[in-house]
Amino acid sequence: MRILVAGATGNLFGWLLSQSGRPRGWFGRLLVRGMNLGHSGLTLWGLSKVEISEQAKVLDIGCGGGRALERLASLASLGKVVGIDYSEDSVAVARKRNQKLIVSGRVEVLHGSVSAMPFSDATFDCVTAVETYYFWPDITADLAEIRRVLKPNGQLVIIAGMYLGSKFDKRNKRRISVGGMRCFSVQEFEDTLQDAGFLNVAVTVEPRKGWICVVSELGANDNKKQLATLEH
Ligand SMILES: C[S@@+](CC[C@H](N)C(=O)[O-])C[C@H]1O[C@@H](n2cnc3c(N)ncnc32)[C@H](O)[C@@H]1O
Repeated sequence: MRILVAGATGNLFGWLLSQSGRPRGWFGRLLVRGMNLGHSGLTLWGLSKVEISEQAKVLDIGCGGGRALERLASLASLGKVVGIDYSEDSVAVARKRNQKLIVSGRVEVLHGSVSAMPFSDATFDCVTAVETYYFWPDITADLAEIRRVLKPNGQLVIIAGMYLGSKFDKRNKRRISVGGMRCFSVQEFEDTLQDAGFLNVAVTVEPRKGWICVVSELGANDNKKQLATLEH
């Protein structure tokens, strides 16, 4: 019904973008299944820019329909992969898709927001985020929350199918303004991550497709205090 109302009032594009930011209902579930397919090339490309060890404990924020969780579980084959998403419908689709891995204890999918995650300090070796940072409510606070859950030397991998300064700027700027989304340029990514305390920010772009992958790290002493508290 809502889709008809949105179409009739000319807001279909905005409604679709808001569904991408928080998939809801039958359409939302259909959409995240479609994203599992549509984002697979981007996800594989982005994950090829980082080394994930077999033993790694990995968190995928905004896991959507959960295809990246499957891929991460094959990379961290002796580790553990956790997905978190604030759409209950995304969580349901991701759980269904990864049912076997969940039963075997290799994957877990939780409902929650990047802004307040239900994990102890210094839990993860690597945090990934595919096509999701556009929608986060407060990038500065949300990056601080990611920093909290990463172990010292942990890595953050942000993968996105658009960035400012690409040849798709006209299309992307329209999406950003209609959807009320955030979209960084290469320079903005570097500045934002450095300001948030991340080191060795490495940006790779795929100019023909307009994709971007940003890998950054925590220092060896980051979170040391929290880790010491946990160990005692
Ligand atoms: C465009 S979809 C991408 C899904 C998946 N990563 C992929 O590439 O197919 C964005 C996802 O991020 C989730 N999301 C948006 N804001 C979030 C937040 N603040 N905390 C957690 N998840 C969020 C949405 O619910 C949605 O499932």
